Amino acid sequence: MLKALLGWYEKNKRQLPWRQTHDPYSIMVSEFMLVQTTVATVEKRYESFLEKFPSLKSLARAPLWKVQKAWSGLGYYSRAVNLWKACQEINRLGRFPSNPEELKTLPGFGPYLARAVASIAFNVAAPVMDTNVRRVLLRIFGADDPGLSEALMSQSKSSPSKFNQAFMELGALVCKSKKPQCFSCPVRSSCATQGIHP
Ligand code: ADE
Repeated sequence: MLKALLGWYEKNKRQLPWRQTHDPYSIMVSEFMLVQTTVATVEKRYESFLEKFPSLKSLARAPLWKVQKAWSGLGYYSRAVNLWKACQEINRLGRFPSNPEELKTLPGFGPYLARAVASIAFNVAAPVMDTNVRRVLLRIFGADDPGLSEALMSQSKSSPSKFNQAFMELGALVCKSKKPQCFSCPVRSSCATQGIHP
């Protein structure tokens, strides 16, 4: 199951701008944006935001109004405030935390953001559970408890970054909430729903 999913991901993943970097700051920016905004909208705004604030220090030192202005079009401005505060705190720390527990103490970081940044930026084994991943797990396994994704990740030979994004990508491109594309699903043969959705 995992091998089929990860192979599918390698072939079919979208070349999203935040997938072309290993810089924790840039990855953190993308995940803050993606919490409540669609990939299509984030794609349009991400690069120009990073041109204005190319480093964690540059964002931490900018006045808040400039960060909020650059956030325009993304909505939910409290995220811009939290991102700015988180950058200031990381800047003060002098190192970027890689552990989800430590990340969770930063402004705006809930379990999803902490796990997404730890896994994608630092390859820490922290499975993410957003609504898409939960739906995918529920359909494939008939269960979506965190223990299941922990067990799956520990079995996987792939990097946690790839593992998490493969599940996200399957949910976004194939295992959609409405009209799932089961005919092109790499894991259909091991799916509990077998392409049958109410
Ligand atoms: N949604 C949240 N994080 C994402 C990522 N890294 N790639 C695609 N969609 C996402």
